This record gives sequence, structure tokens and C-alpha cells, in this order.
Amino acid sequence: EKKVTLATIAKMKGVEPITMVTAYDALFAQLFDGEVEMILVGDSLNMSFLGKEDTLSATMDQMIYHTQAVGNGAKKACIVFDMPFGSYTTADIALENAVRVYRETEAQAVKIEGGREKADIIRLLSENGIAVVAHIGLMPQHVRSEGGYKVRGKDEEDIKRLLEDALELQAAGAAMILVEGMKAEAAKAVTEAVDVPTIGIGAGNATDGQVLVWSDMFGFFEAFRPKFVKQYCNGAEEVREGLDKYIEEVKSRAFPDDAHTY
Ligand code: KIV
Ligand code: NA
Repeated sequence: EKKVTLATIAKMKGVEPITMVTAYDALFAQLFDGEVEMILVGDSLNMSFLGKEDTLSATMDQMIYHTQAVGNGAKKACIVFDMPFGSYTTADIALENAVRVYRETEAQAVKIEGGREKADIIRLLSENGIAVVAHIGLMPQHVRSEGGYKVRGKDEEDIKRLLEDALELQAAGAAMILVEGMKAEAAKAVTEAVDVPTIGIGAGNATDGQVLVWSDMFGFFEAFRPKFVKQYCNGAEEVREGLDKYIEEVKSRAFPDDAHTY
């Protein structure tokens, strides 16, 4: 299999659903590589891996470190770097940080949360040869300012707003649009309105692709489980069972047995 590029992904719209999962390290990136088309190094790692309450304290250094790890493990998947809170407050700051992403990691695109107000930033990055995945709908980096996570696209007015945002971001050069936490009807309308692929999370099954946070979908993150997360493995349960067995065998001196002894 060859490397999945943004050109590969663009051609998949309307042909075949695009699969994407998050990864934060080389071990899991390698497991996912050659299977899914895309890997997102999401700032969700600030919660699932660093143990913080939200994504807001993630830094550029932290995201670069994890993206380097993912790049070491994944050689085929198209890697997307999630721009952390505060790293794109102006177009110039965004450009400086995004240049760093291309210089220091294997990422093929950066992701930026926001609607039409981010169009100028996306335009500047695109003009400078940096591919951008726009991210609209529920935006986790707004959790403090909005006082929670709120599902979008619940009425005609909001759907219209999301549609206008999507079209403006596409016009500004967005290579893809990630749509999070919105009514399926709204995500479908956005998907039909734009020529670039849409990737959905908690946005129904009409989008051009889907993304899930790996620690959620494989049952490792137990703090909370939103409605849109389908659990494909019982990760935490299996690890706990293995751990209990290990402890029991060490305590009873059943491990290491002859087979595991020099
Ligand atoms: O940080 C992340 O994992 C994300 C996905 C939820 C889209 O942004
Ligand atoms: Na994110």
C-alpha cells in the first residue's frame, strides 16, 4: 500500500467513506497504519492521556511531540495535526505555528476549530502551501467560553449558519471540513453543499468520513462516554483482567514459571 495523500482523500468524496481515528503515540499509530486512511493527532490527548478536564491547556510543543511519535509509527496514513488552543489567535501566529508543524512532523494538514471568523487564517495558511482541515459544529476548545459542549444544527437558523461557515471555509481554501456534534440533517446539508470531504464525529452517517477518538472507541476512556461513541472493544476491562492475573501470579510466585525463566 502507498501513502495516503490529501489528493487520495479528496477523490474519495462520493465514492467511498473515509475512515479516521486519533492516535497519540507510535505504538497505536503503527497498529492503525495501513488500515484507516487518516490519523488525527487530536488535542483530545490532553484529556485522555494527560488527564486534564478539557483540551485547552494543550501546547504546540506537546502536540509536536505526539505527532512526531505518530509519524514514527504511521508511514501510510494521512496524518492531521490538531492546532491547540491559543496557537492560531491571529493569522500570523497561526502561520508561524503551522510552518513548525510541517518542518518538525510528518503531518500533511493542520486542523483549526472555527467558522467564518477563521476564514482569513485558513486563506493565509493555504496560500503558503499548508493544508487546513476546518472544524465546525461543536468545538471543544470553546467549552469554557460556552459553558459546556452543545450539539449544533438543531434549528433552520443554525443549519443555515453552519452551511455558510462551511462554504466560506471552503472558499478560503480548506482541504476538508470536520463536523462535530451536530444533528445528522445539518451534517448532511453541509456535506452536500461543499466539494471538499467532510469528516463527521457525532454528526450522523451522511458525512464523507467518520472519526472517533481511539481511547473512546476501544473502551479505554471511562470518565464519560457520549452518545455518539460506539465502543468496539472493552479495552479497560481487558487490561484490568490481565493486570489482576499478573498480580495474582506474582504474589503466588506462579510467574515467572519455567517457560519465562533463563
Ligand atoms: O481532538 C480530537 O480528537 C478531535 C476529534 C474529536 C475530532 O478534535
Ligand atoms: Na480536537
